[in-house]
Amino acid sequence: MKVLGIESSCDETGVALVEGGGAGVPRLLADALHSQVEMHQAYGGVVPELASRDHIRRVLPLAESVLAKAQADVRDIDVVAYTRGPGLAGALLVGAGVACALGAALGKPVLGVHHLEGHLLSPFLSQDPPQFPFVALLVSGGHTQLMRVDGVGRYEMLGETIDDAAGEAFDKTAKLLGLGYPGGPALAKLAEQGDPQAFKLPRPLMHSGDLDFSFAGLKTAVLTQVKKLGADLEARKADLAASTQAAIVDVLVRKSIDALERSAMNRLVVAGGVGANALLRTRLDAECARRSVRVHYPELRLCTDNGAMIAMAAAMRLDAGVERATEVYAFDVKPRWPLSELSKDTGSRPSPG
Ligand code: KG4
Ligand code: ZN
Repeated sequence: MKVLGIESSCDETGVALVEGGGAGVPRLLADALHSQVEMHQAYGGVVPELASRDHIRRVLPLAESVLAKAQADVRDIDVVAYTRGPGLAGALLVGAGVACALGAALGKPVLGVHHLEGHLLSPFLSQDPPQFPFVALLVSGGHTQLMRVDGVGRYEMLGETIDDAAGEAFDKTAKLLGLGYPGGPALAKLAEQGDPQAFKLPRPLMHSGDLDFSFAGLKTAVLTQVKKLGADLEARKADLAASTQAAIVDVLVRKSIDALERSAMNRLVVAGGVGANALLRTRLDAECARRSVRVHYPELRLCTDNGAMIAMAAAMRLDAGVERATEVYAFDVKPRWPLSELSKDTGSRPSPG
């Protein structure tokens, strides 16, 4: 069973072809990605209308190149999957519209996929795929969540951010330091040259006794430092970047370990854009090794948005029998869509989140 996946929720157009339906984990046949980063850079952030228009331009050529790379014909596609949400409404509509039109033209069923489930299952695309159950740390631009994952569609929220996401904390502090968009990778790069102990920054909710996060206060603390430094900021920028990154990573590591201990699990899966952060990986590797916990990450290039994770999530849902693709081509998108709704949809363990 060949699943074509289309991702268009934000600033990357991603298309991929995955082979599912076998006994093992579905396999990636080919993928292609176009990043809009350069286009949005001039504006300091994502401009939704420009994003939608660019997805329109990119999606079919990307699909053609994926089929060519996989040496497959468009008629070989068995299911067309697309990101149904969450994300930018206009951007989502492009992927959903193209997917449903393609499905209708080919007479093949379609399936709308939850973007975060795509991230969550993306480590299954790696050489060393995890096994259920595990604790997942989902750290993207809009979400920071710890979850207990017992199987496909069986997600129980353990904790989440009460304000900014970790990726947002990276992006907003990067902006305060004049590092532009996208901020996370830029801040991480500058931090390599700085002293992580140079500034004493708060670790919000680090010892709160629950598994929730809060990063808004950190951003305010960085702003205070920026104002204090004034003209000296330039000379201390790397130190401030390193100190900010250390604060964010400290909290993510502490809470991940707490989640593992509380749920008595020995497997951690990290997913989402911030999962590409080198310090986070080093620190989690060290802390987990000491506790005999296995950690799984997506391949670096599949940490941020891509089509492979959408095709993969669709194939895994279909293989697990938690959902059926349909020949209903009327589509909608869900710009706001809590992941906890998936567990309700599939009738498995209800989630308090
Ligand atoms: O998962 P993702 O591609 O998009 C969403 O679904 O939100 O995550 C993007 C986020 C951005 O906030 C970006 O700054 C952050 O991931 N990010 C990083 C790194 N690479 C991407 N943050 C820290 N270090 C990185 N190396
Ligand atoms: Zn994402």
